[in-house]
Amino acid sequence: MQSIRNKGLMALISALLCVSLAFVFVVNRAAAHKVSHDAETLQAFTDAFMEQVILGDNLFHGAPMDGINMSNTGMACAMCHPFSSDVHPHEYPKFQEQMSEFATLRDMINWCIEKPNEGEKIDPDGEAMKALEAYIYWSNRGSVLDPGRH
Ligand code: HEC
Repeated sequence: MQSIRNKGLMALISALLCVSLAFVFVVNRAAAHKVSHDAETLQAFTDAFMEQVILGDNLFHGAPMDGINMSNTGMACAMCHPFSSDVHPHEYPKFQEQMSEFATLRDMINWCIEKPNEGEKIDPDGEAMKALEAYIYWSNRGSVLDPGRH
């Protein structure tokens, strides 16, 4: 009787040990993704971001870029969207009436290039698109995420 109880206790202790080990393993792995960066590294990340914002700002205001033709009307984005403050990036993705489809911010940027601007759509993963996206988000920082809004 005594030995059955001991065996049961041993089994329980082993099980608890296994669960604890698994927990420690999972927590450690999760923590590995949260490496804190020193000030210098963080500054390098910010610089890389701001470089994109500045490039996007220039494109948004009509600066030329090799291989890109975002407008055939002479209109730059900023002429219809001053300071990019009314382009609502925090509402994407959402159903976009003009396109009659569910759209990402990149889809909408290309819609504006193709329709009002009569230009040529840009590569959704290309340098110009990433820079435009960086500028548009930066200009609207502080906005509360509200995807799907109309
Ligand atoms: C001739 C005027 C005009 C120009 C130039 C123009 N757009 Fe637009 N843009 C519009 C109109 C019209 C809409 C649709 C109205 C709306 O949804 O608010 C729009 C909507 C948008 C939206 C979505 C706004 C929202 O509230 O969902 C984005 C993003 C956008 N434009 C980006 C751009 C970018 C980037 C450029 C330059 C490549 C550009 N636009 C150039 C007229 C213009």
